[in-house]
Amino acid sequence: MALRNIRSYTDSLLRKKSKRVKAFDGRLHILLDDMLQTMRSANGLGLAAPQVGVLKRAVIIEYEDTLFELINPEIVESKGVQSRTEACLSVPGKNGLVERPAYVKIKAQNRNGEEITAEGEELLAVAFSHELDHLDGILYTDKATEVFDIEAKDDESAE
Ligand code: CO
Repeated sequence: MALRNIRSYTDSLLRKKSKRVKAFDGRLHILLDDMLQTMRSANGLGLAAPQVGVLKRAVIIEYEDTLFELINPEIVESKGVQSRTEACLSVPGKNGLVERPAYVKIKAQNRNGEEITAEGEELLAVAFSHELDHLDGILYTDKATEVFDIEAKDDESAE
């Protein structure tokens, strides 16, 4: 595994639409493994492939000891609304208040191309929505009602 550089919001690549993954091969597996190491080393909760400069529809989320590897993910159901403070590894030093669905259900593929579903509420629902947005070039700051400077670096998770 290797650490990859996390692109910042000033990089126009983060604004591009990622392409569907067609090859579930060793190269994809290396990407996912590198993303996990990169996310953990940055104390993140989630990471999308474009954040490491790869325009592929792949995201990872690590939540309460469960690792989600979601390839070609789509939201198939969402319910309710919640407003929560978000951060992003590509937007260092900031966080912001964003309105998201309270529940989302995802259809995706795993690293071997098999169909999977995942569902989440509360913070996990936010993580799914936030990471999937990255695949369409959307940052949470586009949706935030307010964005704040984080005064001192704390232990809050970033996506
Ligand atoms: Co993010």
